[in-house]
Amino acid sequence: MRVVLMGPPGAGKGTQAKRLAEKFRMAHLSSGDIFRAEKAGGSALGAKLAEYMSAGKLVPDEIVVDVMAKAIRECSAGGGLLLDGFPRTVPQAQALDKQLAASRTPLDAVVVITADDEQIVRRITGRRSCPKCGRIYHTEFMPPRENNVCDDDKATLDQRADDKEDVVRQRLEAYYRQTEPVIGYYRQSNGEHVVEVDGNRAPEEVTASLIEAVSRLAGA
Ligand code: AP5
Repeated sequence: MRVVLMGPPGAGKGTQAKRLAEKFRMAHLSSGDIFRAEKAGGSALGAKLAEYMSAGKLVPDEIVVDVMAKAIRECSAGGGLLLDGFPRTVPQAQALDKQLAASRTPLDAVVVITADDEQIVRRITGRRSCPKCGRIYHTEFMPPRENNVCDDDKATLDQRADDKEDVVRQRLEAYYRQTEPVIGYYRQSNGEHVVEVDGNRAPEEVTASLIEAVSRLAGA
């Protein structure tokens, strides 16, 4: 099963992707996580990615397509694939279609999680994550048991460098201008496989709707 998970920053893609990947036994590939790992590794590519990410701008397509094509090749030997945060522009979606057509593994579902702008800003500015296991928390909506400490491995939680309000608003602007057209692209080419899920609800309700939608679209 191959699924694309889309939605504005802070809609809950990362939170829900972990649950879906576990439920349907899919590999979870998050372009943002891949870029942050590259940046943490200190490579020249990582430094280039950081310039765009810290400004809330999309990384140029030619860089993204190369990095993601390699990541998809490396993890698509076995079962399913859940793409989170990629594709984010129409040229990226076209490049992905080409790669999946060549391996005769087309998309089964494109799922868009929606959320209101003001809810997004609250969610992102309160987000904290574990540097060790990647678990995502929120200071108000999903707090850890002990203040700023991961429940699972006791690591001190981090705040992402691009989670400041001015950068969030820039990321939202990039989403509406460059990423929303991708939904139209998929509606035209693959309409019956596209579904929107309301992300303005409690996390468990969103998860239940996503599981229902993916099961239906992918016949799982
Ligand atoms: P990326 O890492 O993909 O960030 P994003 O799309 O902006 O999404 P986020 O990770 O901020 O949010 P999310 O939807 O995963 O929400 P989460 O589950 O964490 O990209 C970062 C940057 O990398 C981009 O700006 C760009 O520069 C670059 N990039 C990445 N991919 C690219 C591409 N393909 N092309 C070009 N550039 C690219 O939830 C957020 C918070 O809300 C958490 O605290 C969580 O606990 C809480 N929360 C979640 N769900 C709920 C709920 N239902 N109710 C209450 N709180 C909730």
